Amino acid sequence: MKGGVSIERRAVLRVLGGAGGAALAMGLGACSPSLSSDARKVRIPISDLPVGVRVRVVYAGHPVEVLRTAEGVTARSLLCTHMGCEVRWSQGTETYNCPCHGGVYGAGGVVVAGPPSHALRSEPVRIQGDAVVLGG
Ligand code: FES
Repeated sequence: MKGGVSIERRAVLRVLGGAGGAALAMGLGACSPSLSSDARKVRIPISDLPVGVRVRVVYAGHPVEVLRTAEGVTARSLLCTHMGCEVRWSQGTETYNCPCHGGVYGAGGVVVAGPPSHALRSEPVRIQGDAVVLGG
């Protein structure tokens, strides 16, 4: 299934239809990005991913952060590896913090404190033409 959405600042909109539905939220900027998805992939126009802006995408029911840098693009699951709470990025400490049991992950997703025993999971992502493609 394919579909597009318009996004407003701090808004989370769900692409309609199917388990592969996706949503996207941006914490910064006044962009109106759009994305499309099918059951296995989320495509985000690269013009909607400013360098250095962390974008939260919900893909197949799981929150994922997509970050474009000068070197490329990364995608990281935001599910804490301890018991699955959603971690939040703190710009002040440059860590991902888990609100449930105090898990703390560094900027690269590795555990720096608390009960998690594994790093945040990286998700497959690539730049394909004028879009960032998340998923298989
Ligand atoms: S669920 Fe994150 S520290 Fe327990």
